[in-house]
Amino acid sequence: MPGSPCFLWLLAVTCLVPRAQSLDPPDPEEEDEDQTPLPPWPAIHCDYDRCRHLQVPCQELQRVSPVPCLCPGLSSPDKPPEPPRLGEVHIMAEEGRALVHWCAPSSPVLQYWLLLWEGSRGPQRGPSLNATVRRAELGGLKPGGTYVICVVASNKAGDSHAVAQEGGENSEHVDLPAFGPCSRITVPLRPATLVHLAVGVGTALALLSCSALVWHFCLRDRWGCPRRRL
Ligand SMILES: *[C@@H]1O[C@H](CO)[C@@H](O)[C@H](O)[C@H]1NC(C)=O
Repeated sequence: MPGSPCFLWLLAVTCLVPRAQSLDPPDPEEEDEDQTPLPPWPAIHCDYDRCRHLQVPCQELQRVSPVPCLCPGLSSPDKPPEPPRLGEVHIMAEEGRALVHWCAPSSPVLQYWLLLWEGSRGPQRGPSLNATVRRAELGGLKPGGTYVICVVASNKAGDSHAVAQEGGENSEHVDLPAFGPCSRITVPLRPATLVHLAVGVGTALALLSCSALVWHFCLRDRWGCPRRRL
């Protein structure tokens, strides 16, 4: 195995070099370098994915990991979290539901919730979800309806900001950034609704043709429109 000699060599260097150097007259520049602690293992990243549903916080992974591992840096716990990133929204038009996914921000988070604007009404606030959750379902969506969905993260210092909150009543007209915490969705019409619509339009067209024919053959002569022959 080519890795092992390298590793032993690295170990020997880290153990022996400081002692060897202590015999030499101290060099101020090298002394600084010695003080930075060398990791005993090559640095590995914890198995943490900010977009994975039911993802245990990285600090907890670090605590239980047999091998020390690295976590992504987080903003200060004294500041409200950065906004989470709303991902794909899967609309189930048949049931009037939508499945919403998001990714955690690089901030300490205690809980998440969803906000839903319907037209100029709202927002409705969804239930609080713990910090491991990355997806949630929305119900009661109307076919053909347009909604703005935002995901909010919160910690002890406050709530992450949602773009649509600034828009307030005019949230329908706010430009939503592509990778922000908000997204605008339009629920498609249900196939059943489309069939009804098609039957309705078909019936109307048939009635119109019938009345045109009746007019042509029965009423026109009686009401004395002169029949022109070419
Ligand atoms: C967080 O919420 C999820 C979904 O409701 C649940 O399965 C999980 O056990 C909760 N985790 C904690 C730590 O409360």
